[in-house]
Amino acid sequence: MDTWTSLQNRLQELEAAALQLEQPDMAFRKQASDAAAEQAFAYARQFLTTLPEQKAFVEDVITPRILQQYPVQDEPRKPEEVFALLHKIFDDVSLNAASGGHLAYIPGGGLYYAALGDYLAAVTNKYSTVFYISPAAVKMENILIRWMCELVGYPVDKSGGYLTSGGSLANLSAIVAARDAKQVKAERIPRSTVYFTHQVHHCVLKDLRVAGLAECVIREVPMTDAYEMRPEALQQMIEEDLRNGLYPWLVVASAGSTDVSAIDPLNEIADIAEKYGLWFHVDAAYGGFFLLTDIGKQKMKGIHRADSIVMDPHKGLFMPYGTGAVIVKDVQTLWRSNHFDANYMQDAIPYHDEISPADISPELSRHFRGLRVWLPLQLHGLKPFRAALEEKILLTQYFYHQVKAIGFETGPFPELSVMIYRYVPDHLKDNITAINELNARILKKVNADGKVFISSTSLNGQYWLRLAVLSFRTHRAHIDYLFHLLKKIVEEEHLAQSQFHAV
Ligand SMILES: Cc1ncc(COP(=O)(O)O)c(C=O)c1O
Repeated sequence: MDTWTSLQNRLQELEAAALQLEQPDMAFRKQASDAAAEQAFAYARQFLTTLPEQKAFVEDVITPRILQQYPVQDEPRKPEEVFALLHKIFDDVSLNAASGGHLAYIPGGGLYYAALGDYLAAVTNKYSTVFYISPAAVKMENILIRWMCELVGYPVDKSGGYLTSGGSLANLSAIVAARDAKQVKAERIPRSTVYFTHQVHHCVLKDLRVAGLAECVIREVPMTDAYEMRPEALQQMIEEDLRNGLYPWLVVASAGSTDVSAIDPLNEIADIAEKYGLWFHVDAAYGGFFLLTDIGKQKMKGIHRADSIVMDPHKGLFMPYGTGAVIVKDVQTLWRSNHFDANYMQDAIPYHDEISPADISPELSRHFRGLRVWLPLQLHGLKPFRAALEEKILLTQYFYHQVKAIGFETGPFPELSVMIYRYVPDHLKDNITAINELNARILKKVNADGKVFISSTSLNGQYWLRLAVLSFRTHRAHIDYLFHLLKKIVEEEHLAQSQFHAV
């Protein structure tokens, strides 16, 4: 069997396995008695059952204005009125982030069982922050964190972390721990150097600023043609900085970059970080959970050598937005940056043997995030997650071959499930502005159709279309739809061009 056929066969198998993540039977909801719950569940059911027909994107300028007509007021509104409003402002408008057609930015989908976890977390209002008052809720989160530590290959005894609201805050937490561990303080900051490539997610720069490190010297390490950090360039930069009396303290690698899913060479970077005493942080917010697949494990070798890692369950574990995670090799580093014994919290002190999120994070009262992650993992088991993730990698490879075959230029072969591509017709080859405009037009046409939603990026002044496959609901039909749409748009463009020339 040739590779193309085996790729397609495998995709079919994976899709069937991944389908188990679809919404389950919602029969229990019939017991709900109160009107708001009835309507909320009816809304959810209608939303989920019509999801395959819904668009992934519809430009929306109206709903914010509608919403303004419903200010917070003293008197209650009727559930019918409120749910009718929700239908009006949410259905068939704006980005539909639950849709399998969402192929832009970094999608995830949002598992139904996670929503049930949220519902129960809110109903029970479990306090997931301090072990003493809520041991099960804290333990649940700690078990999830332990599982993630094992997934990356961290030592069981010392590692730890917590669930954050997302990748940006998880990266912030890691940077703060690194800052304190490496004693980057006041007068030392302007001489302290940080290393990463142009592919680093912008939140890292934002986080450095928020962490009081805006004056650090930023070193952008050169990359290979595949947008991966060149370790020998990193080493040269560090040595030069040392010769100039600077203080290299942090290197940030990407394990799945947002633009192209590039993975920096983690082992080589770890060697250099160790040699020169730098904190090694890996932003695997997008790529981290691909460690559940053999392909991901292979590609992220060396990740366990990082001092800190960010991986977002609201990306690669398909959770709804609001779930990130930061894990560190030595949990004491998070503890030292965050721990505080307040007088009114003294009853919790004897229970410090089990680390509580309050001890290692800036948060105190917080959403019980653990339940929304724990429940789907318990009810689905890991198998469909592994299948869905491998499916996403292969779908991206499938698309890569497809668009190449109809004349699109592509970026590097996708390491994971994000890739770039653009259309460069022969007659425009030397006209970068026209190429950029043409591709921007293609994007507009795809998104005006709305059945699938794509985004773009700019690299070295070139406009690229971007494909990001990560929603558990994205299957081969969505990719085929995009492919046929692109083919049609490109044919239309050609026709328009030839008519233009004929005139
Ligand atoms: C690699 C990477 N890091 C960090 C982030 C930021 O994560 P969040 O949007 O959850 O704050 C993203 C978001 O897409 C990302 O792709």
